[in-house]
Amino acid sequence: SQIDLHTLYGGVVPEIASRKHIEKINQVVRKALADASCTLDDITAVAVTYGPGLVGALLVGVAEAKAIAYAAKKPLVGVHHIEGHICANYIENKELEPPFLCLVASGGHTHLVKVADYGKYEIIGRTRDDAAGEAYDKVARAIGLGYPGGPKIDRIAREGNPDAIKFPKANVDGAKYDFSFSGLKSAVLKMKGESFDPADIAASFQKAVVEVLVEKSMQAAEDYSMRKFAIAGGVASNTALRTAMEAACAKRGIQFYHPSPIYCTDNAAMIGAAGFYEYLAGTRHGWDLNAVPNLKLGER
Ligand code: KG4
Ligand code: ZN
Repeated sequence: SQIDLHTLYGGVVPEIASRKHIEKINQVVRKALADASCTLDDITAVAVTYGPGLVGALLVGVAEAKAIAYAAKKPLVGVHHIEGHICANYIENKELEPPFLCLVASGGHTHLVKVADYGKYEIIGRTRDDAAGEAYDKVARAIGLGYPGGPKIDRIAREGNPDAIKFPKANVDGAKYDFSFSGLKSAVLKMKGESFDPADIAASFQKAVVEVLVEKSMQAAEDYSMRKFAIAGGVASNTALRTAMEAACAKRGIQFYHPSPIYCTDNAAMIGAAGFYEYLAGTRHGWDLNAVPNLKLGER
């Protein structure tokens, strides 16, 4: 993890991220192989995230994956970062199969995705402005909790009163499945200087976020007659979101799935899981694979 380094600056510094990737990537690959007691000979294919994201970090991974695949004579499978988050659900839930609906909430995305089949995605709702994780991070900074904000708000909110402050709902008029978190974020930022308990602000902010995520997700699940619902992305490790979503699904007889926290935030296992299904579907990339910072879900 690079979290300690970025904490010094209050957020991810792109240049530091890619420099550290270059320094560590060979060590990490070697350790992963050693921990799994295998060599490159035991591996069928090499999967790599090629977008979306910070171009510097993506480039390091893509170059490394191409080098390994070329040297070891293995197929190369490029994976969409969000597809990785969704596929994190397959790692521990062996019985989960499409179709299902998935809420992906990370630092860069808040999407409601219909997973029609392996590798077949339809985005039915999205944020119009900030991502849910981004709102968590900005609010955390504003109330003096620092980086990374999500887990810190999650923790401190347990000691606060979620009804202490009435924040605006993260709704978008007329768009049933779309989100908007910038109004909510601004409402919290405007409270700077007011004498409120940070735990109450955190709990009230979190309640507003969780309510809208659950409401829209359940509306979509009902409209699309989905019997299975999954959450993914860094924000999916949020305890309040998980508890509320679990209850809402149980009430409607919908099967609820979520990855363990370690598979919610960015990790390599989820890219391996997505790569596995892409490989089975015949996806192969050439040595000209490049980083695509704004790659769209479902694009090849
Ligand atoms: O998926 P992720 O690791 O990276 C991206 O692809 O963006 O998500 C990171 C985001 C950050 O905004 C972080 O604050 C948020 O996920 N996050 C959380 C929690 N853990 C991480 N948000 C709320 N509650 C958490 N427990
Ligand atoms: Zn991510």
